[in-house]
Amino acid sequence: MPTTPFDPVPSATRVPAVVVRAVATGSEPAPVLGVPVRTEGEVPTAVGLSREALATWGFSGTAGQTLVLPREEGAVVAVGVGAEPSPADVRDAAAAFARAAAREARLALLLPDADDAAAQAAVEGVLLARYRYDELRTPDPDTFAELGEVVLHVDPDQVETAARGAARGHVLARAAAISRDLATTPGGHLDAPGLADVAQRLADAAGLQVQVYDKAACEEMGFGGLLGVNAGSVREPRMIRIDYQPAGGSDRHLGLVGKGITYDSGGISLKPSNAMHAAMKMDMTGAGAILAAMTVLRELEVPVRVTAYLACTDNMPSGSATKLGDVLTTRAGRTIEVVNTDAEGRLVMSDAIALANEDEVDAIIDIATLTGAALMALGPLTAAVFGNDDTLLTQVEEAARSTDERVWRMPLDRRYRKWLNSEVADIKNLGGESAGSIIAALFLAEWVGDTPWAHLDIAGPMLADADEAWRNKGATGYGARLLVEAAERFAAG
Ligand code: BES
Ligand code: MN
Ligand code: ZN
Repeated sequence: MPTTPFDPVPSATRVPAVVVRAVATGSEPAPVLGVPVRTEGEVPTAVGLSREALATWGFSGTAGQTLVLPREEGAVVAVGVGAEPSPADVRDAAAAFARAAAREARLALLLPDADDAAAQAAVEGVLLARYRYDELRTPDPDTFAELGEVVLHVDPDQVETAARGAARGHVLARAAAISRDLATTPGGHLDAPGLADVAQRLADAAGLQVQVYDKAACEEMGFGGLLGVNAGSVREPRMIRIDYQPAGGSDRHLGLVGKGITYDSGGISLKPSNAMHAAMKMDMTGAGAILAAMTVLRELEVPVRVTAYLACTDNMPSGSATKLGDVLTTRAGRTIEVVNTDAEGRLVMSDAIALANEDEVDAIIDIATLTGAALMALGPLTAAVFGNDDTLLTQVEEAARSTDERVWRMPLDRRYRKWLNSEVADIKNLGGESAGSIIAALFLAEWVGDTPWAHLDIAGPMLADADEAWRNKGATGYGARLLVEAAERFAAG
């Protein structure tokens, strides 16, 4: 069998290969046409059925419903969008349509109110629902066709607007798909050096500067948190810095800090062999979302300087692993007593945050699959967000609403800080029995200092347990689109 070199980011070429267009309704045939239907008002004539007839088949137009109406050639698919569809509803409806027509390579979607946001959301919905990861298996061509074309059918006077929104949706969906690729790739196929190689490749193509610290450089730099987590591994760690400078320059500078644990076994505090442990190849999702977001900043002409700091290693148990009670000296000079090697994300991030502060960034957004407690508190649909700056937090919340990557603000209650007091070091890496996500955020806050900061704990929404709306079962790519829009809002605000 011919062997091709393994590509950890197939979406980087596969998603752009899909043709995305906007045309005037009726100007060309649309063999497979999605038609949005609301819960009230007229049923669009393209459906060719009355509301009563649709109701007979259990279709009322609620968001996400689909009804496939086969024609001699192709099909019309009635797609429910609810009463007053928001862009998020359009995204979800488009995703439902793309799934209902999973065997079709060319899709057309009727979009009556095709403003920028709706067109963008529609394209994102279709592309994200049709995402597949088939790098390590043989795909089944009978159940699924590779998507070739998405055409939005809009009012003649909205073609230009819709085309603009569609192009933006195409780019953002590519970022989310790259993020999914990286998260889905097993730890054995993508380690920290591998991640640095991908970052270099993607950054070259996207007009970004990359600086990679290998193990020797990490030692020289005193990244004690990162090296402490890496101590049990036969693979090297990497600290990756990626810099985006807008063409017009910028006097503001945003730092993005990501947790890049390519596999989290727990270390000496070994995790049980359950489903959650098996998902720990995705513990680099924060770093993956940032890397993916960085790749589209120039294309979208985001007018602010953005630097990414990705702290990458796996977390393994071995004879050389960090032991409970060991004390690490971090880049910032402060020491950490490790009382649980499974609380490793905060250790690697302490060095990355310190590096961001050395660069004197104006604000930091960090993103990490940090605590199971965040998943327990908010479930798989919503990330926990913490921070010290209302303006920045509001920008993140607005971005999250726009991309439908939901966040919920949690309290950074300083009264719990004393739970992190250590008897031998400046701080320990574990608090008490409760408030796990807050304690982790308080730990990060120690390295942030006074820099405006928002912290996203994405342990919940990194993963979906079923195909639903724009999420597919598996890695969701959560955060990639959100970070781009947050950077845009930071630039504007
Ligand atoms: N990567 C995990 C957190 C996680 C759990 C992410 C579930 C996604 C889904 C993190 O490194 C971890 O192990 N956290 C511990 C912290 C504890 C030891 C304080 C946890 O949540 O149990
Ligand atoms: Mn862990
Ligand atoms: Zn982890």
